[in-house]
Amino acid sequence: MLILVLSSCKKEGEYHSVSDKVEAEGKPYHGKLTSDELLAGTELIEITEGEHTFLIPEREGQIKSFACIECHIKPLSNMKGLNEKKAHWDIQLNHANGEIMNCITCHNADDMNSLNTLTGKNININLSHKVCAQCHSSQFEDWKGGAHGKKVAGWAPPRASMTCVNCHNPHDPSFDTRWPVQFNTQKAIEREEGLDH
Ligand code: HEC
Ligand code: HEC
Ligand code: HEC
Ligand code: HEC
Repeated sequence: MLILVLSSCKKEGEYHSVSDKVEAEGKPYHGKLTSDELLAGTELIEITEGEHTFLIPEREGQIKSFACIECHIKPLSNMKGLNEKKAHWDIQLNHANGEIMNCITCHNADDMNSLNTLTGKNININLSHKVCAQCHSSQFEDWKGGAHGKKVAGWAPPRASMTCVNCHNPHDPSFDTRWPVQFNTQKAIEREEGLDH
């Protein structure tokens, strides 16, 4: 078995010519994809936060109900109660308690295509990390530096990072607690013996 694996590896590692070999092995990560190659096809935008300049994925194009202003042409108060069914029935806010937060804590009621800060400053939906940063400053500081949240590719420039909403649903941001994976030996024995009913 082992020999099979080894010999197939060797075949893949063969080059047609010396120049092929030099080119392949001269690439970063010994022939693995560079950040540029890994990120090809993802639309990225460049942001500067403090002294850090890096790329994050574009969001607007990923949101099905965008552009919001196709429907949100009048003030919210005029739109509510028109239908029996809620328009955004699939969105259940499960973030902070209702005294701290409601929909327009983050969404801009005067321009629904945008978000807003607690002081009413307009924020492009692609830059939603700025909204999160207001209340989660320590995670934001870590994220800027690359410690919180995952890099899309390697450490080689250009640096690209997932943004907050790639991992956290803004409407329901915490992850469920999970039990660590365990292997129950006694159960396995019982199952083997056909005792598990
Ligand atoms: C197909 C039409 C439509 C689109 C597109 C749409 N909305 Fe709405 N939205 C509505 C209607 C109608 C209401 C008011 C009735 C209701 O509360 O269900 C509403 C209500 C809301 C509210 C207030 C909800 C509440 O309970 O106070 C928010 C916030 C909101 N929309 C955000 C957005 C955002 C952000 C987008 C774009 C990403 C968007 N909407 C796209 C139709 C739409
Ligand atoms: C903590 C901030 C925050 C609150 C509170 C919030 N949103 Fe959002 N919402 C966002 C962000 C950020 C996005 C963009 C997410 C992305 O990039 O995918 C978004 C996206 C949306 C979208 C488009 C994507 C989707 O899931 O359909 C709708 C519609 C929407 N919000 C409606 C609402 C409604 C209605 C409420 C209140 C019940 C609400 N939001 C409360 C931050 C918030
Ligand atoms: C207005 C303040 C405010 C804004 C804006 C806000 N949050 Fe929160 N967030 C809270 C509060 C309050 C809690 C609940 C208290 C807690 O558990 O720390 C919370 C909880 C969370 C949690 C769960 C924490 C845990 O311990 O499980 C995550 C993750 C989170 N928010 C991410 C985000 C993201 C991502 C955004 C931006 C889209 C955002 N928040 C915007 C105030 C905010
Ligand atoms: C690559 C995914 C990823 C990205 C990007 C990301 N987070 Fe997290 N975040 C996590 C994970 C995983 C946890 C730990 C969850 C747990 O332990 O239950 C976490 C935890 C949190 C918590 C809970 C408190 C804590 O530190 O454990 C908050 C608040 C939070 N993130 C906010 C943010 C904000 C704000 C951003 C953007 C500036 C962000 N996150 C970006 C994955 C991410």
